[in-house]
Amino acid sequence: MVPKISTLSGYLHEQQKSIANPTGFWANIAETFFWRKKWKDVLDWDFNIPKVEWFKNGKLNITENIFERHIFIQGEQKALIWEPNDPDEPNIEYTYNELFSKVKRFANVLRRHSIKKGDRVAIYLPMVPELAIAMLSCARIGAIHSVIFAGFSANALQERINDAKAKILITADQGLRGKKVINLKETADEALRSCPTINSNIVVRRTGGTINWNNEKDVWWHGEMDKVTDESKAETMDSEDPLFILYTSGSTGKPKGVVHTTGGYMVYTAYTFKNVFQYSNGDIYFCAADIGWITGHSYIIYGPLLEGATTIMFEGTPTFPNPSRYWDIINKYQVNQFYTSPTAIRSLIALGEEWIENTEMKSLKVLGTVGEPINEEAWHWYHDHVGKNRCPIVDTWWQTETGGIMISPIAGIIPTKPAFATLPLPGIQPVIMDEAGNKLCGNSVEGSLCIQFPWPGIARTHWNDHQRFKESYFSQFPGYYFTGDGAKRDEDGYYRILGRMDDVINVAGHRLGTAEIENAINEHPLVSESAVVGFQHKIKGQGIYAYVVCNDLPKKDDGEELRNSITKGVSKMISPIAKPDKIQFTHSLPRTRSGKIMRRILKKIAEGKGDYGDISTLTNPEIVEEIIEGNKKIQ
Ligand code: WT7
Repeated sequence: MVPKISTLSGYLHEQQKSIANPTGFWANIAETFFWRKKWKDVLDWDFNIPKVEWFKNGKLNITENIFERHIFIQGEQKALIWEPNDPDEPNIEYTYNELFSKVKRFANVLRRHSIKKGDRVAIYLPMVPELAIAMLSCARIGAIHSVIFAGFSANALQERINDAKAKILITADQGLRGKKVINLKETADEALRSCPTINSNIVVRRTGGTINWNNEKDVWWHGEMDKVTDESKAETMDSEDPLFILYTSGSTGKPKGVVHTTGGYMVYTAYTFKNVFQYSNGDIYFCAADIGWITGHSYIIYGPLLEGATTIMFEGTPTFPNPSRYWDIINKYQVNQFYTSPTAIRSLIALGEEWIENTEMKSLKVLGTVGEPINEEAWHWYHDHVGKNRCPIVDTWWQTETGGIMISPIAGIIPTKPAFATLPLPGIQPVIMDEAGNKLCGNSVEGSLCIQFPWPGIARTHWNDHQRFKESYFSQFPGYYFTGDGAKRDEDGYYRILGRMDDVINVAGHRLGTAEIENAINEHPLVSESAVVGFQHKIKGQGIYAYVVCNDLPKKDDGEELRNSITKGVSKMISPIAKPDKIQFTHSLPRTRSGKIMRRILKKIAEGKGDYGDISTLTNPEIVEEIIEGNKKIQ
């Protein structure tokens, strides 16, 4: 088991050690895992290429570190508790032994379908236990999983499957979220019409609802599981072999396949999980994220299971059947650590205190947030009403690309400050840069947040596009990893994340590229171009504001229909989560002489802020007035 920091001086000591001798620091932690063969060099890196390799030539399998390593001591301990959407439906609980048996069986199913080490497996599942089993089964046989969030459209699914050239898809008949039924199989069928690399589609029966069946490709999960045994050897993996791909949005239109490898990701997720949440043996841990995003990968599945924890996986939503749902789950299982997003907290605040007033939640020890900046009001509500003034909040800053938590309090050890992610974890060396690329030393500074030394959890590349990987993070400040976020370091050396500096918007903790949304809007036959910006949104953190230029600009009253059809188009191309909150029609967009759209001005208008700066350098300054006028009607 990885070492656990237990005092502030212990933290300071580890932090100092990790900077003085990073390879020695991480090697010590890596040695607590089971390696079939030890690595040659701890680290080989060059951010200019960029290349990062941790524990290369070390041989291991991450599932042996989850199962075989723990089974003798705690095979009968609960590994996974699955809480269904509807509280009246029975839950499912798997011990480590039981989960292991399922994973080995499904590993054999994949092998029977000719899936081998290095093959890509696309997983398009709702929050059901089979999702966890499928991911771990891939890891067992060395196949690379690519989980696609179940809220994505057929078009988005197909794009991700084809980019990775996945051989097999795993989906479900339907998914359940609150009162909604999500027709996953139907969406998958539509996507599979143009996915030539997919040979079979394994379907989990979740609801038993009516679906179409394709005898050539479709097979039932339960039918396949009956055909195999639960004897399955783990594939030997190199530390640097890919473990998974996870697609995320960037500043260009196409989603990028972030690649994480095996050894470094294992060491990093386990270490950060144990330390940030101060997990102790026997604790019950509940992360309410979706496994379709990195938070679920690292902190529902890999981190907790590597540390032998009991992890809760929740199928539903915070408001079904009523807004006490999270609090009921916390009481039902006596949850000790609870991890959610600021958006979820804000949406529950908006529904009123009566839903939380009489909840006890005595078991809670630690609260966490992730995904977006948390405002002070939400922080205090979380602290007072959920934590009943007893529980430290860990505001964890990290990204899909970082693999695990980077800047965060260590619960109960690093003193917190509302809305601050506080201090870097041991092994993390953040720096703040000014626009000219100078490192800003000392405290009370603000600029671009970069990291100056690799850590084991950093992504290694973009699937099939190393050049784009380089451009996205290593070209703005040569020699550094640029996070895309702005940050300030205050007078105490504490970090506060200020939000994205690139064309990425963070809507309810979901990351969306403005270019991706614009591409979807531009597909509409009446649209000639568009510009999308984020604006402050009370619940979602950021909302989506689209400026749309049409061939036939709608007259004052008849824009509604066009708005609806544009919105529908975005849902279909990407996902309902990418739907614009506001659409403003305009005759043109403000541009610089070089033809670049001036998003800075558009963002200010969308947020209702004045002070547009110097607009005389625009080719069409007069359009700004028109847009300001139009915006007044939208608010
Ligand atoms: C972006 C990464 C990390 C898992 C979920 C999101 C923002 C994340 C915080 C935080 C302020 C945060 C950043 C970051 N972000 N956590 N605690 N405080 N902002 O992963 O989709 O890769 O998005 O989310 O802007 O760059 P992601």
